[in-house]
Amino acid sequence: MSTFNVGLKKTIDNSYDIEIGYKLFDKLVADLKAGLVRNIKKFAVITDSDVQNLYAVPIAERLGRAGYIVDLFAFPSGEKSKTRETKAILEDALLERDYKRDCCIIAVGGGVVTDLAGFLAGTFGRGVPFINYATTILSAADASIGGKTAVDTPLATNLIGLFNQPKKVYIDIEAWKTLPTRHVYNGMAEMIKHACLADVQLFYYLFDNLDKIYKFDREACEYVTEANCRIKYNVVMQDEKENGLREILNLGHTVGRAIETVSDYRLLHGEAVAIGLVAQAKLSRKLGYMNDDELNAVISLLYKASLPIAIPDYIDKEALVKKLYTDKKVRNGQLRFVLQSGIGSVMQFGDNVFATPISESLAREIIYQCK
Ligand code: GLY
Repeated sequence: MSTFNVGLKKTIDNSYDIEIGYKLFDKLVADLKAGLVRNIKKFAVITDSDVQNLYAVPIAERLGRAGYIVDLFAFPSGEKSKTRETKAILEDALLERDYKRDCCIIAVGGGVVTDLAGFLAGTFGRGVPFINYATTILSAADASIGGKTAVDTPLATNLIGLFNQPKKVYIDIEAWKTLPTRHVYNGMAEMIKHACLADVQLFYYLFDNLDKIYKFDREACEYVTEANCRIKYNVVMQDEKENGLREILNLGHTVGRAIETVSDYRLLHGEAVAIGLVAQAKLSRKLGYMNDDELNAVISLLYKASLPIAIPDYIDKEALVKKLYTDKKVRNGQLRFVLQSGIGSVMQFGDNVFATPISESLAREIIYQCK
């Protein structure tokens, strides 16, 4: 008998740029011409039915005019489309149009599109490059950056996926003007999350400037977008695969993701996260990591941002407690929460440990208080 060692040690450079601006279509084409994805000539633009005409078609047209082969693949908008089934339909459509390993995926849209298309890119032909063109506040604040790509399953959100970093992220602030109001508020939840966990100055900036942001004032939108990107990429650069620190980006998501699923997606991701932020802040207050003023400030900012701060009556709270166990932070059957420490910081519970075990009875008590 013999033993062979397959030596595969490697140094990988997954670095990429995030560009924040307005109508970045031409910049995208210029970057491709300058070699962003080397000599790839074939592009699959993946988008959803809401974004298709507004952004994906103009991008595809420009790529075509620049001499690239380009096809557009759209699926129905909404979190309910972020499934293995949609991914398979898109994959078959790409294969039918003769897409092989020599292509690049361009995801144009919000978090659902970038999560799904990034995952598809990671498995199509065993992996092709992808680019994110983020058109929503939620994707600007969170989803388009950091390389978490996934689909939802009937059990819970984001359970099947890959860490797969894009070649570049474009954040188009101009696109926010086309969002339905509810989606504007929705994205703000992830910005508030970042402020709560890492930046007290951003927290109070949001408090004082929400009106400006909601009127798409350029200076305010650029400031908060840059601040969010900085928070997110600083964490991702230290812990890309979530071995410790990256768990802090889960603030509010233990309860939030569970609410999203139990509501059967009646609540948008950010809306569910807003309630999850209230839940973790109440828990943090109970454990002595926040004071009453800090707890009230978090709730007030979410309320001011027109986000929900209570669990809707139609949600079965016992089903919600059960659903908490689908959270990826659960270890050995034990619920674990990331918790704020005052405002602009999170608790650390040990060397590289940022989530703490919470008993089911305490989690239940807090959930019943979110009314
Ligand atoms: N949205 C959480 C993360 O990217 O880690």
